[in-house]
Amino acid sequence: VLEELKQYAKRKQTDISLVTLMQTGQGKHLNLFDKFFPKTDAKTDAEKVQIQVANFLYRELPVRLAHRALELESEIVNKSSHVRQVCNWYKRSFEELRKCPAPTTLANEVRFSNTIEGIYERHSSTLINMAKGAHQIRAILKQNVHDFADYDEVQRGLNDFYQSRIGIRLLIGQYLALKSPPAGKGLIGMVNMETSPFEIAQAAVQDARYICMRTHGDAPDVSIHGRTDLTFPYVPSHISYILVELLKNSMRATVEYHGLEKMPSIRIVIADGEKNEDVVIKVSDEGGGIPRSHMKRIWSYLFTTADPAVLESIINSSPDVRDFDTQTPLAGLGYGLPISRNYARYFGGDLVIMSMEGYGTDSFIYLKRLMKDAIQPIVDV
Ligand SMILES: Nc1ncnc2c1ncn2[C@@H]1O[C@H](COP(=O)(O)OP(=O)(O)O)[C@@H](O)[C@H]1O
Ligand SMILES: [Mg+2]
Repeated sequence: VLEELKQYAKRKQTDISLVTLMQTGQGKHLNLFDKFFPKTDAKTDAEKVQIQVANFLYRELPVRLAHRALELESEIVNKSSHVRQVCNWYKRSFEELRKCPAPTTLANEVRFSNTIEGIYERHSSTLINMAKGAHQIRAILKQNVHDFADYDEVQRGLNDFYQSRIGIRLLIGQYLALKSPPAGKGLIGMVNMETSPFEIAQAAVQDARYICMRTHGDAPDVSIHGRTDLTFPYVPSHISYILVELLKNSMRATVEYHGLEKMPSIRIVIADGEKNEDVVIKVSDEGGGIPRSHMKRIWSYLFTTADPAVLESIINSSPDVRDFDTQTPLAGLGYGLPISRNYARYFGGDLVIMSMEGYGTDSFIYLKRLMKDAIQPIVDV
């Protein structure tokens, strides 16, 4: 298997544009279907789409998994048992895929999709495990929080790893979502043609307040302003992740700076003009800001000013805690900001933070309008 894995890691990943992915899901690329799958028993368009998407994944996923597995074998990173664990997941998933027959018939497609579901589940706590791993690596390198944050080689490696992970999970998520009936109007797989930042913000506020209350017994209020009516095509789960992370940070800063008695509320502003390239969401707090000397490090994995006991307790936590669990702490893992920026940049947007030390912090999420120029593929997955 290892030999085969190395072979696959030499192949190039195939980029697919989000538009193509969605159009395929809508059955707009079935013209060559019969030529590619002469022996299939798929009859309806829906069945054909399943087979088509499944076969793209069947070819593409082993290549991507092999790349990730070998990246994690590099010498510094592989010193950590948690990273080796994650690496083994990639190898096992690779092996399972290679054992699966090509999903060209309906029966094989069912088998394939079960395998894929298992894989999606297996990797669902990668973030937490990589955080634990980074902690181990830092201990091995005998570096403190600040030096590790400045250690560009590891930081860059982690960034690349997470960036490609977003793509893999999007491909798989898109395929699995297509198999179940759309959960709502405007949904094509994981893309929502009518993503509403306002609705996402409302839900994010609830989640973040819940987490903050669990730690502090109370949480600042959050008001939402601007284009509350706006909808645009995007992957809602990405915006949701970013907003929850920013709100948790703002809430923690507000509580720590002002105490629970007089907490100034946090403001979210949604901005957009029809001609704009981006949709911009701003989160503003009066939590005392960030010292300028910390500004570069806040983008580093494992950089946190929270109590180190939080990270310690996570390191020793049950292996079942999942990445997006509301049981995760308000702060202390030190990867909220770097991961959020990866999500924002994934489709060509960005996350920018401006701080006024002694007053507060403004965070700007820039989101590209994915289909602004329609037809033309805009971003690759
Ligand atoms: N709104 C904010 N106000 C003050 N400090 C902040 C804010 N957002 C982030 N920070 C600083 O950036 C650090 C890193 O943030 P993050 O990556 O989310 O990790 P964590 O929240 O786990 O510490 C925080 O520990 C904090 O020092
Ligand atoms: Mg955070």
